[in-house]
Amino acid sequence: MERKRYVMQPFRFNAAIQHPVLLVWDIVGPWRTDRNNDFTGKAHIGAADEMSLPALRQEAHTRREQDLMRSSKKPIMRIFLVAGARPNFMKIAPLYRTAQDFPEITCNIVHTGQHYDKAMSQTFFDDFGLPRPDYFLKSGSGSHAVQTAKIMTAFEAICTENRPDWVMVVGDVNSTLACSIVAKKLHIQVAHVEAGLRSFDLSMPEEINRTVTDAISDLFFVTEKNGLDNLLREGKPADRIHLVGNVMIDNLLHQFRKLEDQVSQTFSSSRLKQKLGSYAFLTLHRSSNVDDETRFREIAAALNTISDEIPIIFPIHPRTRKMQKMFGISFSSRIHLLPPLGFQEALFLWKDARVVLTDSGGLQEETTALKKPCITIRDNTERPITLDQGSNILAGTSRNGILNAFHTVMTDSQKNFGIPPLWDGRAAERIWQVVVNTASV
Ligand code: UD1
Repeated sequence: MERKRYVMQPFRFNAAIQHPVLLVWDIVGPWRTDRNNDFTGKAHIGAADEMSLPALRQEAHTRREQDLMRSSKKPIMRIFLVAGARPNFMKIAPLYRTAQDFPEITCNIVHTGQHYDKAMSQTFFDDFGLPRPDYFLKSGSGSHAVQTAKIMTAFEAICTENRPDWVMVVGDVNSTLACSIVAKKLHIQVAHVEAGLRSFDLSMPEEINRTVTDAISDLFFVTEKNGLDNLLREGKPADRIHLVGNVMIDNLLHQFRKLEDQVSQTFSSSRLKQKLGSYAFLTLHRSSNVDDETRFREIAAALNTISDEIPIIFPIHPRTRKMQKMFGISFSSRIHLLPPLGFQEALFLWKDARVVLTDSGGLQEETTALKKPCITIRDNTERPITLDQGSNILAGTSRNGILNAFHTVMTDSQKNFGIPPLWDGRAAERIWQVVVNTASV
């Protein structure tokens, strides 16, 4: 199979001379291989080596776009859709899929490489049927400043070279912040999906990321009314704020249907699920919880106690695994540690769990949409609507707080949880409609 050779274009050569980081990148980047990373080798366009179904769909879309360019009076809008870390991939999946229905839009996926392990990245592209990213920036891990700077440098180069009309960022990770700043300084319009959420806790990097991103965005797509209120209070123009629902739920409902259709699908955890029967499902990765030894020990003590009552399935995040080893924290044998899971397998496990325990933002929303009891191991949440619906309990991070919440869930027979307005699987459609309308004004 012929591999595309990397060719340094004149612009890139000039940029590389001006930016030492890029110069190094251009020398070593194309030949560097990341461990377990399947998007290797191309800092630029990633041409698919094998034409998978999504790749064929992408090619068909490109051809359609070229035809339109030739024949249509309508301008084509080029959008850079940015994703970098695991929770971003589920948000861009419905956006990318739905964009194919809007002939005015051409959508390029930019993967910053913030998450790079196969289990943290490629698996999700496979699960979601996403094509290989058009641009893969290989930023990798590092301190916040190093990671953010690497993303910015690489993203600036592709934006300057390709001049998209819009950059669309999702969520609140470092890639969201880095790419929105770069775009805005290049006078490219920025749309923020999942705008307006606030925990009002600036010790969380995500709160800084989302607040700064919102400070400079041009269009705000909001998942819940609290987000709308926060943005209005911060002085954002009302006509730029759109309550559209939740793309994370678009993806969840789509994947849920797919999972139900694949009745014969077996995962490596299928036998464990069957053996346990009743179990709790846990995710834990937030730096505020696992990087602080005292707090991590307190949480682990609560989880070990809970596991005496009900076994726990725990796909463990690389950060958590690293810190657990460093602090020498041990988990009960009734806590079943699994490697990070793909979306489908995680859903297959948590949808039937007795209760979900988590410090993730996304899982608070996903459990709400499926009316699954959820205990959030944090002191605050930027997603208060999940509490209002009754399925999510904010437990705090103390041993007692977590145990109390657990006992409430286990004894509470209340099951008539609500689902927030517009969490109906059609948020992406609404978003593109707004983008098209805004551009044609
Ligand atoms: C990031 C997001 C967080 C999100 C989480 C989901 C920021 C500030 N944080 O946190 O909001 O909830 O992703 O996972 O953007 N690592 C690997 N392989 C990978 C990626 C990371 O081993 O593919 C390890 C590295 O040791 C790295 C550590 O995990 O240092 C943390 O990764 P990083 O992206 O910095 O932060 P997350 O904790 O994943």
